[in-house]
Amino acid sequence: MNDVIARAAPEFQPKVAVVLGSGLGGFADDVRAVATIPYGDLPGFPQTTVGSHAGKLVLGHVGPTPVAVLQGRAHYYERGRADEMKGAIDTLATLGCETLLLTNAAGSLRLDMPPGALMAITDHINFTGVNPLFGETGDSRFVDMVDAYDPRLVEQMLLVARQAGIACHSGVYIWFSGPSFETPAEIRAARTLGADAVGMSTVPETVLARRAGLRVAGLSLMTNYAAGLGNDKLGHEQTLAVARESDNRMRRLLRLFIEQYV
Ligand code: HPA
Repeated sequence: MNDVIARAAPEFQPKVAVVLGSGLGGFADDVRAVATIPYGDLPGFPQTTVGSHAGKLVLGHVGPTPVAVLQGRAHYYERGRADEMKGAIDTLATLGCETLLLTNAAGSLRLDMPPGALMAITDHINFTGVNPLFGETGDSRFVDMVDAYDPRLVEQMLLVARQAGIACHSGVYIWFSGPSFETPAEIRAARTLGADAVGMSTVPETVLARRAGLRVAGLSLMTNYAAGLGNDKLGHEQTLAVARESDNRMRRLLRLFIEQYV
């Protein structure tokens, strides 16, 4: 157990943990906070170098559900380490979290998912050739990745969205290392491989979470058409601008999903 957390929020046991991606940090304001702790005070938590990632752990409630919200993540491309989030994810599991809900900004490979569209992740493709469990020992490193994104949580996400009148697609997320964006040829390859959305995060966190025994749900916000599919110039500013514009819908869906989490 992490002493800093135990001191800041004695007896608090979160059920759902949430990682907020680029430009999506606003959801932290929807938490009735018990404690807010900067990552810098938390042993094993990452130091984020991306400006839009605040680097704070917010413990509190959303509706009746106790949550741990990670406002900001570290990415593989920041230091070339795929296990950046290991300390944070293991801590969430130790605190008693059952489910890790991963959010991200992503590029869309589908014309029916324009910028602003939401997508529940049903599966992923690791296109980087690296794994956050490199160097681990013991048989528990051979993690089963079938149904890594819990099918019941995907169903629940889609149901909650439907009931609230929020359009939510479902599909496969492909992980590219970044930080450069993909080439149009890479995106054509990704489409052939069966990907619906592309991004630079989430996949290593899913592997680490499954290793730690957490159920995983993933929600992507399309901030652009992937390279070669649209006419927009790709850049982090564009990602942030669309994420901020669409944050309200994503926030509402997250809030309803977590309030109704059983
Ligand atoms: N590619 C990779 N990561 C992204 C993209 C993209 O097009 N958009 C937002 N994150």
